[in-house]
Amino acid sequence: MAQFWKPGTEKPRLLDDGEGGVLFFSSSYSSSSSGFGFSSTEKQRQRLPVYKYRTAILYLVETHATTIIVGETGSGKTTQIPQFLKEAGWADGGRVIACTQPRRLAVQAVASRVAEEMGVKLGEEVGYTIRFEDLTNPDVTRVKFLTDGVLLREMMDDPLLTKYSVIMVDEAHERSISTDMLLGLLKKIQRRRPDLRLIISSATIEAKSMSTFFQMSKRRRGLEGETLEPKVEPAILSVEGRGFNVQIFYLEEPVSDYVQSAVSTVLSIHEQEPPGDILVFLTGQDDIDAAVQLLIEEGQNDRKKSELIVLPLYSGLSRAEQDLIFSPTPRGKRKVVISTNIAETSLTLEGIVYVIDSGFSKQRFYNPITDIESLIVAPISKASARQRTGRAGRIRPGKCYRLYTEEYFINEMPAEGIPEMQRSNLVTCVIQLKALGIDNILGFDWPSPPSPEVMVRALEVLYSLGVLDDDAKLTSPIGFQVAEIPLEPMISKMILASGELGCSEEIMTIAAVLSIQSIWASSRGAQKELDEARLRFAAAEGDHVTFLNVYKGFLQSNKSSQWCHKNFINYQAMKKVMEVREQLRRIAQRLGIIMKSCERDTTAIRKAVTAGFFANACQIEAYSHNGMYKTVRGSQEVYIHPSSVLFRVNPKWVVYHSLVSTDRQYMRNVVTIDPGWLTEVAPHFYQQRQLSHMPH
Ligand code: CDP
Ligand code: MG
Repeated sequence: MAQFWKPGTEKPRLLDDGEGGVLFFSSSYSSSSSGFGFSSTEKQRQRLPVYKYRTAILYLVETHATTIIVGETGSGKTTQIPQFLKEAGWADGGRVIACTQPRRLAVQAVASRVAEEMGVKLGEEVGYTIRFEDLTNPDVTRVKFLTDGVLLREMMDDPLLTKYSVIMVDEAHERSISTDMLLGLLKKIQRRRPDLRLIISSATIEAKSMSTFFQMSKRRRGLEGETLEPKVEPAILSVEGRGFNVQIFYLEEPVSDYVQSAVSTVLSIHEQEPPGDILVFLTGQDDIDAAVQLLIEEGQNDRKKSELIVLPLYSGLSRAEQDLIFSPTPRGKRKVVISTNIAETSLTLEGIVYVIDSGFSKQRFYNPITDIESLIVAPISKASARQRTGRAGRIRPGKCYRLYTEEYFINEMPAEGIPEMQRSNLVTCVIQLKALGIDNILGFDWPSPPSPEVMVRALEVLYSLGVLDDDAKLTSPIGFQVAEIPLEPMISKMILASGELGCSEEIMTIAAVLSIQSIWASSRGAQKELDEARLRFAAAEGDHVTFLNVYKGFLQSNKSSQWCHKNFINYQAMKKVMEVREQLRRIAQRLGIIMKSCERDTTAIRKAVTAGFFANACQIEAYSHNGMYKTVRGSQEVYIHPSSVLFRVNPKWVVYHSLVSTDRQYMRNVVTIDPGWLTEVAPHFYQQRQLSHMPH
């Protein structure tokens, strides 16, 4: 397919060097790619832009309760600042320096990098914690990387986070729900802990509004008559980046298939452009795997194309796969990394000279009226597009190919993204705040408040789950137990119900699988074989029961990777399922849930699923010939996802785990139910009136 490119004409606002179409990042260093072993780690560290600011950063942190640090991606914020703090003594006396990230993969990657730079074993002086994986040692870990979600959980046991001396909330520009909650809660903690220091760091941020947010505490402190040391006015520091010109090209005509278009662009860069690695931004595991597959096939019978080393980058990769991404490209080869927006600001890959930007990412959207939350492939913002472009200017002047037209960029792309808080279902968020003793959820001090309708919806669902009582307080024991399990409340409720229904062994497996992206080894090239493999495990009751068949087969194979390969199952994912399951068992034991198997009484299993996911119940449209369902609550049109074993089977009543949106709203992970169970498990949610048309 021929694609025609047009150099961009936009003059970027901030980084303009006066020449149209060229983004300029101030370049004060001549750099060589790191990782080739010419210089010591220490020299590499000194070459990073933040190094020049070491003294300034340490001074500001010493004298200010909150320091806001803005700096170009790759300037060394995440890997260096925690080390500066450590060297300056902030971890003395058993205290710990924390650095949070919105993404699990970023936590693992930066922690292992920092351990390497400090010459220590990961898990000792430097460690990390993500959900279901704790690589720290409380006695010796002094620099700790963790997801913002995990830090929120730690507050449940230690509300003032007393073991931390400095907390660096990194990637704040991402505005994830957990980051926003953390900012609100840390602001409260600060009032009780004048010794605590906060660093808010990000690639691009409205530093002013963040500063205003943290300033508020000054007045309150003054009123309460506490001491005003350290300075409560936040400090703002801007780290000047280093980088090179990136020339931008746009498509002359829009394309419909960005995967195909990205693949063609990779191939033509490889044919026509000098050496240098390529970074491609797609949206998720599906389209990334498809692109990887297409490129690998291209390389199979073409010597030139076989010089490409094609690597996917998304959450859920194993450590070995991550290491490949970061290791230097061998001579005569060209690395092609195909990534979600994780490589936009969370991770910096050296050696990238060419960026291909699809213009899309997977985003969550929630509509409180229909009560539907789904993952949608949606246009990114101009701010994101600029970040993606910048990734090409790391080691020398680069090129960025945007798979959209310039008119589209100028006229249609939104300037900024919307914070996740304002486009999500807040059930998980509300239960966490309740568990932290925040009673007045509507009055909570948010960086960007969510709409009251969404809050009310969340309260209602939690009430129906039996988690909150009439006064919107956590119920005992259910509410406290649900809050204690580090999963979405609906899964937690399903687990609790399984204890009573005598199917906890099975539900633990299902919960573990649902907490993982996908257990199937999907790739476009082998769709037919994958579908056949799936059929081998398919259960008439639906995907949840199918997972049990896969799990059983995996155990019977002695957890064999060949068995997984043969059956199109992702071995890494299955290993993760085992780990998560084990952790859930431990939590269940602590909560006094009795472990029991129902010996394939799938009624008990499906009832337990319904007890958690009743809000996602759907009925097939009687006269629909195309498999259209309507949600029971909001009468929204939904369809069974082609990856489900119930696709085309179309049973009458189902509940789903999640929705993805493409041309339609598709239900992923679907199980058949008896509609009578709905009023049984959630009488408040499904008042008789709504279900009057139900057969009983
Ligand atoms: O946080 P920020 O984007 O400012 O930069 P950083 O993540 O601290 O990255 C600083 C340097 O460390 C970059 O040159 C990265 O390529 C390198 N790095 C790495 O080589 N391997 C990692 N796992 C993480 C960072
Ligand atoms: Mg960073």
